[in-house]
Amino acid sequence: MATVSMDDLVALCRRRGFIFQSSEIYGGINGFWDYGPLGTLLKRNLKQAWWNDMVERELVGPDGQPVDIVGVDCTIIMNPKVWEASGHVGGFNDPMVDCKESKARYRADHLMCLGLKGDKVGQIFAYVESDDTSLAQARRKLEKYIKRELADGDIDRCAFTALSAGERAITVGPDAKTPGTLTEPRQFNLMFKTNVGAVEDPTNIAYLRPETAQGIFANFDNVLNSTRVRVPFGIAQVGKAFRNEVTPRNFTFRSREFEQMEIEFFIRPDSAAEWYAWWRDSRFRWWQSIGLSSGNLQLREHASDELAHYAKAGAGTSDIEYRFPFTAPGFGELEGVAHRSDFDLRQHATHCGKGDKMRYFDQERNERYFPHVIEPSAGADRGTLALLCEAYTPDPARPSGVVMRFHPRMAPVKAGVFPLVNKDGMPEVAERLYRDLRKRHVVEYDPKQSIGKRYARMDEAGTPYCFTIDGDTLTNQTVTVRHRDTLEQSRIAIDQVPAWLDERLG
Ligand code: GAP
Repeated sequence: MATVSMDDLVALCRRRGFIFQSSEIYGGINGFWDYGPLGTLLKRNLKQAWWNDMVERELVGPDGQPVDIVGVDCTIIMNPKVWEASGHVGGFNDPMVDCKESKARYRADHLMCLGLKGDKVGQIFAYVESDDTSLAQARRKLEKYIKRELADGDIDRCAFTALSAGERAITVGPDAKTPGTLTEPRQFNLMFKTNVGAVEDPTNIAYLRPETAQGIFANFDNVLNSTRVRVPFGIAQVGKAFRNEVTPRNFTFRSREFEQMEIEFFIRPDSAAEWYAWWRDSRFRWWQSIGLSSGNLQLREHASDELAHYAKAGAGTSDIEYRFPFTAPGFGELEGVAHRSDFDLRQHATHCGKGDKMRYFDQERNERYFPHVIEPSAGADRGTLALLCEAYTPDPARPSGVVMRFHPRMAPVKAGVFPLVNKDGMPEVAERLYRDLRKRHVVEYDPKQSIGKRYARMDEAGTPYCFTIDGDTLTNQTVTVRHRDTLEQSRIAIDQVPAWLDERLG
């Protein structure tokens, strides 16, 4: 893992059609990414696995009972009152700092500084946290300053937000040359605004949803009335969310348009601790089940001072984190599991003026109450990025120099089918097998170039199995199976191939 270079991975993603910069032909647009043919399959496999495992398959809860989860698919633009109730209009802010010299914008809490200890009159050099290039630039500027001014002392590192106004005045921005060009941090609302209707007017402002969760809360009563679910139960949604991030970065990790896979799981308030622990552990295991290694995953319980506004004084909040190459040796958030208490349902009850619609009536106990919520909220793009990082394995012994070791369930293409040569009836047999396998799986037929080049293409795509039709196939009806990870080659009967593949793909 430590050897994965993001530059190499990004180059492979572009070359092989996993991920492209959005509107690349016009120079791109910061914070927006497109998925190419292989990337679309990979991300779809991830979302499909999540939906199958969370909504369609039977999960057994901590009480030994089947877990009930139903799905919704809500609009991206909702009544703006939703976002007042949720707290996003008033509180979904990031502190932002502008540089008057370079015109760059930074998140204040992502800026770090280097300077000489106790040097109150010299210069301090800011850089962007977890950005090695930015850190190297700040180091170079500090070294030049030390040489020029014959300054001396130990080097100190601190957060930009910890500097006094006087210290900020002598701070050189990450992309600037002169000190004092970084503005004071200002709060910046992350929601994208638009207008609904023909006229642009303050009265018809609406927002692109910054999380899918609120569509679920707003439909709480509709779901209760239209299904047979009873507390404890969950509502799941997969869909786009939009945040006007101050500093989108690290490939797709922090984007301005991304997809979430969220469940709001409604429970009795007195069972919050039990369900919170169950969801946290189940979700952690799920990421392992689709191929993320335990060495690259960690659970991090939030400290009380970093809890979100809705999670205060709850049973807990934790992040499931992945060791991305750009965070290593540290970790970055992949999914949050939060006890949201009854914050959202209460807020909507107050703001929509229909309090009873947000409360649950327990017929057995003859009581009405606001259920509490445990929310596992995962990022589909961060998940896809983690799968790509995990799979990327440099291997100088292979012609491709790299192999993408996706879990077979996640692999965009499940198998390659090749005729060894384009004669002697081999293409016809190979095409027949290809058509047969295609009925159930995404498979590729490739009759071009040398067999080595075809294997190399499949290694870069992360295809776990390749079936080659060769001279022996025509005499004994067997094919060569090439295993991506071990490079082992074995032979199986051609009529066994569909069942053989089904079994391995589960
Ligand atoms: N409803 C709760 C919620 O939205 P969050 O921690 O802000 O919580 C949940 O987001 C997940 O969405 C994160 O764990 C991450 O995977 C993904 N996510 C959040 N912001 C993102 C961004 N700017 N780019 C890509 N993914 C993001």
